[in-house]
Amino acid sequence: MRAPTTAGLAGRLVAWQRSHGRNALPWQHTRDPYRVWLSEIMLQQTQVATVLDYYARFLTRFADVHALAAAPLDDVLALWSGLGYYSRARNLHRCAQIVVAEHAGAFPRTSAALTKLPGIGRSTAAAIAVFCFGERVAILDGNVKRVLTRVLGDARDLSLATNERALWALATELLPERDVRRYTQGLMDLGATLCSVRAPQCDACPLAGPCRARLEGRPERYPVKTRRLVRGQRENWWLWLQWRGKVWLQQRPERGVWAGLWTLPLLDGEDEAQAVAASLGVELDPLPVIEHALTHFDWRLHPRRARLLRKPTEPLPGPGRWFEHAALAQLALPAPLRRLLEASRTWER
Ligand code: ADE
Repeated sequence: MRAPTTAGLAGRLVAWQRSHGRNALPWQHTRDPYRVWLSEIMLQQTQVATVLDYYARFLTRFADVHALAAAPLDDVLALWSGLGYYSRARNLHRCAQIVVAEHAGAFPRTSAALTKLPGIGRSTAAAIAVFCFGERVAILDGNVKRVLTRVLGDARDLSLATNERALWALATELLPERDVRRYTQGLMDLGATLCSVRAPQCDACPLAGPCRARLEGRPERYPVKTRRLVRGQRENWWLWLQWRGKVWLQQRPERGVWAGLWTLPLLDGEDEAQAVAASLGVELDPLPVIEHALTHFDWRLHPRRARLLRKPTEPLPGPGRWFEHAALAQLALPAPLRRLLEASRTWER
């Protein structure tokens, strides 16, 4: 039996989605799983406004799953450059290769089978299965957790797996018999717009009537999660070596932060940067510090630039290579590095 407050919830949401939801996004008028999957992976952790350009560029470059599977990983990472969370791009590529090699290029048609693929968690699998195949299955991403815990007044601690499982069960119970596509889109839209983390716009919300959190007057206290991520701090020096208009870049290892991306050599401190500079016989030019927030830590990066007049005989921090400025557009660079390099277009020779 459903709680009386939730009766009619789906109907309200569906009607609101029709009139006030987002209905013109480029991945909404297709049931092609390749397109929907691509959009859902990009939309994990990233807002619609940012995704739009990347989505269009990806489809131009990789029109279908075969094209993506056949591409070198470096090309995929380069096109992903700036979207962040690069494990998504690696999984995207691996997933495309598995779909081609093991499923003859056709995505599996159930959420259960989709979750077996790399990068596709339970909620993403459900979204793809709802939108493409009309499966009646619940999604539960961060936005939807917020909407549902507020509407239901569910203050159980979602740090505990058992409470999270209970919320999945409730999300499943709430599914309407019909209109699951629009209902699902409505939950996403509400979570992304009115039902915001801070200062939700309850006055405009179609679920304001039955919403327990609104009745209590404190919607912001939901969802309850006691074990929050503890963010760390890191500090590194970024050595920017230029020689004849080229820049020295190092490729990050396959694991860890910025895995596989190209970056300026990361050093542990000013002393280390000065030691490299001394061995090369150059002076370092300090540039303003860059603050970069990642999921697990805040990173303070101190760029130090130097121009080499001769080709260095000393080994440079590696494994690395010299890159022409023109080559950078095609290269997988972390977003703050791309901004730094582009901000100084006047490359001295
Ligand atoms: N966020 C995650 N999936 C989405 C979708 N299909 N439309 C809009 N926002 C989303």
